[in-house]
Amino acid sequence: MAIEVPDIGMRLKPDLFPTVQIIYRDMCNLRPGERVLIIADARAPEYLIATFHGVAMMMGGDVAVIEGPPPRGGATYQPSATWSPMIAAASREADLIIDFAVGYADFIVEAVKRGARVFSPGDGIALPYTDDVLIRTILHTDVHAIRRRADRIAELFSAASLCTMTTGDAVLEVDISGIKGMPGSGFLWDPDSESFRDAWAFAPPAQPGVLIPEGRATGEVLVDGTLLYHPVYHAAPPTPLRLRFDRGRLVDIGGDPLFAGRLRTWLDQLGDEGAFKGPVHLNLGINPNALLTQHPEWERVMGSVTCGMGDLSLLGVIMEDGAGVLPKSTVHWDWTTLRPTIMLDDVLLVKDGIINEDVC
Ligand SMILES: [Fe+2]
Repeated sequence: MAIEVPDIGMRLKPDLFPTVQIIYRDMCNLRPGERVLIIADARAPEYLIATFHGVAMMMGGDVAVIEGPPPRGGATYQPSATWSPMIAAASREADLIIDFAVGYADFIVEAVKRGARVFSPGDGIALPYTDDVLIRTILHTDVHAIRRRADRIAELFSAASLCTMTTGDAVLEVDISGIKGMPGSGFLWDPDSESFRDAWAFAPPAQPGVLIPEGRATGEVLVDGTLLYHPVYHAAPPTPLRLRFDRGRLVDIGGDPLFAGRLRTWLDQLGDEGAFKGPVHLNLGINPNALLTQHPEWERVMGSVTCGMGDLSLLGVIMEDGAGVLPKSTVHWDWTTLRPTIMLDDVLLVKDGIINEDVC
């Protein structure tokens, strides 16, 4: 299984305009006079940022763009990345932050806490083709149908006490009692109820699931999709990786010899006990046009499940209080399994990577 290669942007595609309009109008509900801060890093093509800038201006936004250098490492290292205080200062003035660069950071969490909205269209080494990703997964899909389905799946997670995920001969049990399911819809705004629904959203839609406090997962999983841990790129193992968990801690790494060795070495050298904690989130991809690329769209590949490891203390700002202890780490890494079977108590949600349409 290799990472799939999307259409690399060489010029401005006209389709990007209606795509960005959908994002601002339907997903962010940008109103005239609101302050929009676009944070990018130097990997973002000018036409991508200019389109987000210009469409927000057309809708009456007061827009500013700030660009920093690419941060050290990829998304994995976001919890410990260092940002210029100038970017943090600008973020304190924004009503809506379009984040192409930062991800998990204290000043983003602070913005969410004070009532700003944060929308991430993508980041990292995927920026040169983020236009292609957004056109495919937003303009060319029914994002409203995806949003409504994400809501139905979140309710199934909320109603369940035990999530059992089977991949081949591996079974992982996650105690999700008392945890509220989250739609991960990618929408800040709900056009149906005409109200704001989330404070922090990640494109493209959608990845319903749960954020998981410490100590909840025991068992094994086979990872045949993306493994996000490397500072520069994401990769998929050529043969499945076998991860074993005991009460919310990764205790053994087996399977694909090359990737198992690389992951073991990375974790050992990191010297961060928090990096072994997890899964800290479990999310089901439901976008029919999402591909396994370097863009976070890989988390929304239809029927796949992505789990996070390491830090949850930052993303946890969107959880309800009292859910449990949230793991803290210098890193947040992820793994994806492409053909899981998922039971929520006795409800079959996914069978071998195919979503059960009878329940959602
Ligand atoms: Fe994650």
